[in-house]
Amino acid sequence: MTMTAESAAQAAYIVAALLFVLSLAGLSRHESSRSGALSGIAGMAVALIATAVLAIDRLDLDSGKAQVGLALTVVAVLAGAAVGLQRARQVEMTAMPELIAMLHSFVGLAAVLVGWNGYLQVEHASSQTEVAPDLLTIHHAEVFIGVFIGAVTFTGSIVAFGKLSGRINSSPLMLPAKNVLNLGALGVFAVLTIWFTASPNLALLTAVTILALLLGWHLVASIGGGDMPVVVSMLNSYSGWAAAASGFLLNNNLLIVTGALVGSSGAYLSYIMCQAMNRSFISVIAGGFGAVQPVAAGQDYGEHREILVEDAVQLLKEASSVVIVPGYGMAVAQAQYPVADLTKRLRERNVEVRFGIHPVAGRLPGHMNVLLADARVPYDIVLEMDEINDDFATTSVVLVIGANDTVNPAALEEESSPIAGMPVLRVWEAQDVIVFKRSMAAGYAGVQNPLFFRANTQMLFGDAKQRVEEIVRAL
Ligand code: TAP
Repeated sequence: MTMTAESAAQAAYIVAALLFVLSLAGLSRHESSRSGALSGIAGMAVALIATAVLAIDRLDLDSGKAQVGLALTVVAVLAGAAVGLQRARQVEMTAMPELIAMLHSFVGLAAVLVGWNGYLQVEHASSQTEVAPDLLTIHHAEVFIGVFIGAVTFTGSIVAFGKLSGRINSSPLMLPAKNVLNLGALGVFAVLTIWFTASPNLALLTAVTILALLLGWHLVASIGGGDMPVVVSMLNSYSGWAAAASGFLLNNNLLIVTGALVGSSGAYLSYIMCQAMNRSFISVIAGGFGAVQPVAAGQDYGEHREILVEDAVQLLKEASSVVIVPGYGMAVAQAQYPVADLTKRLRERNVEVRFGIHPVAGRLPGHMNVLLADARVPYDIVLEMDEINDDFATTSVVLVIGANDTVNPAALEEESSPIAGMPVLRVWEAQDVIVFKRSMAAGYAGVQNPLFFRANTQMLFGDAKQRVEEIVRAL
């Protein structure tokens, strides 16, 4: 290895790390998100080039083994890039969380493989050469912890993918003594770690891998559909720590820095989301620790009322203030463009129009904000839940466009509801509420919404985009 390539790569890693920090800073604000994304792309390009140069510089290119290794790496990178590019192009924005969950599982799997490889390589080297025993102990601890975090992330992310894509039932798995199982698994992991560092062997590494695979699966399976947004960002955090652990093993500073950035920002995002949804952070990261099985409420809320487009138009013509509450259904229907048109028309008629955005509306953080910004709805009329919640009582008409769980009064009024305690937009306090959806089906959390049966609520059935277009035409 030449010294120049090594120091050039290290310098490039520092530049890449700075670009990643800039990227996170940029992505935290709407206006700077594009430049944030560009910084991230530039950082990743620098990191990839530096790593490739370093790896080639370290190889003895005359050896056949090195040539095969290099060829295999090139093939793997090209195949991975092709699949990644195609998936990213095809993915619907509403399916983004499941794609992210799937990608996290790859990070977890990679960390497990890096750990196993690290163990097998060092075992092989230390049987031939003298390796300082202190360093070896640290190395073994790194291997063990890296494999554990990686394996938890791997199966946890697969279950999250299954739940988000509807392949696995989204209700929480309630095994008897599930908390004892989780805590027990952590206790066993601690004992195995001490044992492994004292006397490393393949059987222990296999045992911890199986233990962590089961724990990851159980942790996420125990969490209900409504809390999945927090789980995805928590797995994001775990995947960061798994990558940092791989960085220690591979002696790669950039991987350590990047892993720590992802790990800590993911943990912070999980914390903020827990606060927004009034969930206990500890309970969620401990696989629903302390959660009680909700009682299925087969309550009869009475009859719902329907409204026709003409009557909805009449209500809007008479309104002085309108609040639009979008949700997942607006994204599915791609109704944001006619919604932006409707906003413009109403404002031209001197109606005050504002948007109320719930922190977990849609399927990913900021989902509604991105859609509305794309349709050129002015930022200053798009308000957060806390900014608008007290204004519903003085609002003439609320248009709930494809939102359901985020406007469910049961969260505040029914203690046994699976979404009990989650703050919601109190749309029912307005004079009139019009709900745009296709049927009386439940939302993501799978619970009935008593809002639909309130005296001041009327249902406008059909595809949200079509219905809003019809209203715009009539206006
Ligand atoms: P949801 O509760 O998911 O309800 C969406 C509603 O949209 C459904 O009731 C559906 O009813 C309707 N819909 C679907 N397609 C439609 C179309 N083409 N036209 C009109 N309506 C349509 O929505 P929400 O209020 O946004 O709540 C989000 C939920 O997702 C929360 O439970 C949240 O915890 C969860 N979640 C959020 C995230 C993040 S980070 N935001 C991530 C994962 C999960 P019909 O089928 O009857 O039309």
